[in-house]
Amino acid sequence: MTILVTGGAGFIGSNFLIDWISQSNENIINVDKLTYAGNLRNLISIDLSKNYFFEKGDIGDANFLKKLLIKYKPRALINFAAESHVDRSINDPSNFIETNIVGTYTLLESIKFYLKSINKTEKSNFRFIHISTDEIYGSLNKNDRPFNEKNRMLPNSPYSASKAASDHLVRAWYHTYNIPVITTNCSNNYGPYQFPEKLIPLVIVNALSGKKLPIYGDGKQIRDWIFVKDHCNAIRCILENGRIGEVYNIGGWNEKSNLEIVGQVCELLDELKPRKDNTSYQSQIAFVKDRPGHDKRYAIDARKIKKELGWKPSHSFESGIKKTVKWYLQNLEWVKTVQDGSYREWIKKQYGSNK
Ligand code: NAD
Ligand code: TYD
Repeated sequence: MTILVTGGAGFIGSNFLIDWISQSNENIINVDKLTYAGNLRNLISIDLSKNYFFEKGDIGDANFLKKLLIKYKPRALINFAAESHVDRSINDPSNFIETNIVGTYTLLESIKFYLKSINKTEKSNFRFIHISTDEIYGSLNKNDRPFNEKNRMLPNSPYSASKAASDHLVRAWYHTYNIPVITTNCSNNYGPYQFPEKLIPLVIVNALSGKKLPIYGDGKQIRDWIFVKDHCNAIRCILENGRIGEVYNIGGWNEKSNLEIVGQVCELLDELKPRKDNTSYQSQIAFVKDRPGHDKRYAIDARKIKKELGWKPSHSFESGIKKTVKWYLQNLEWVKTVQDGSYREWIKKQYGSNK
C-alpha cells in the first residue's frame, strides 16, 4: 500500500513524513515543488528509507499529477502543499491564488480522473485529506466561543481567503463528484523545521543573533498554539478513522498572546543559552508596525475530533516549546542553510535594510 503527500518538504509535511517512516513500512511518496519554503534537508534522516520516495512537481500540473497517481496507485493523498505565510500573501497574493486555489482544484480533478481507473474496493478505501487552517474562520473577540466546525468562514487575509476557497472546492467535489474527502482546520503549529519567518522560529533565531524581536502592534493578539507532532498525530488518526465528507478542527487548547509567546521563548533561551551580558533576551523586543487586517484572536474547539476519534494533544505548551527551542539550538546549521538569498530578500522587503 502507498500514500502520497504533497508539500512534504515544508514544515508540517516533513514532520509528518519523519513520523510516518518511524512508525510504518507503508510506502510514502512526497510530491513537492520545492519553493522557498520546501527544503529537502528536512528529510535527510529518512532519505535512504526503502519506503520513502520523492517526486519534484507542482500540484497545479494536471498531467504530472495524473501520471503520478496512475504510477503509484495510492490509497490516500494528503495535501499539505500551500503558500502559507500571511505576510507574504499581503505583499503578493498571486502565488496564493495559484497554489492554494488553482492547485487544490487541479488536485481534485486529477483525483477524479484517477478514481475512474481503480476498482470499487480501492475507490471506497481512497481518502483525500485536505490540510487547512483555523484562519478561514476569521477573527474572534475576547469573549467569543472558540471556532467549531459549524462556524461561518470569514477570512480576512489573502492567505486565509485562498485557504477558505480551497476548503469550499474540496466540499463541492465531495457533494458533486463523490470524491472521498476530509478537511482539517488546525491552529498555529510550532516545532522543528519551521521556516524562520514565522513568529516562534523568528524570535529564536533573531534572539541568538542579537537582532530585534519584532512584535506587531501591541502584541496582544491571541493564537491557539499546537506542537506540530500533535497535529501530525491527529492527521494519522483522521486518515484511518475520520468520516468522509467531514471537517475536523484540530487545536492545542492553548491560547496565548504573542507577547506571552515571545516572553516564554526568551525565558527558555535565558536558561538554555544565556546572553553574554547575562541580561534577558526580552531586552531585544521591539514593537513594530502592525500587520494590515491583523486578526485579533484565534481559538479552536477541538471537541469533535476528541469525541469521534479519541484524539487530543499530548504536549503541553511548556513541553512542546522546550523541545522546540532545544531543537533550534541544536540545529543552527539548518537555520543557516535555509536563510538563503530569497529569505534575505524577503526580510529586506519586510523590514527595510536595517534588519
Ligand atoms: P510550508 O510553507 O512550510 O510548506 C509548504 C510546502 O508546500 C513547501 O514544501 C513547498 O515547497 C510546497 N509547495 C508550495 N507550493 C507548491 C506547489 N504548487 N506544488 C507542490 N508543492 C508546493 O507550510 P506548512 O506550515 O508546513 O503548512 C502545511 C499546510 O498546513 C498548509 O496547507 C497550511 O495552510 C496548513 N496549516 C499550517 C499551519 C501552520 O501553523 N504552519 C496551521 C494550520 C494549517
Ligand atoms: P505567524 O507565525 O506569521 O502566524 P499567523 O499569522 O498565521 O498566525 O504569526 C503569529 C502571530 O505573531 C501573528 O499574530 C502575527 C505575529 N507576529 C509578530 O508579532 N511578529 C512577527 O515578526 C511575526 C512573523 C508574527
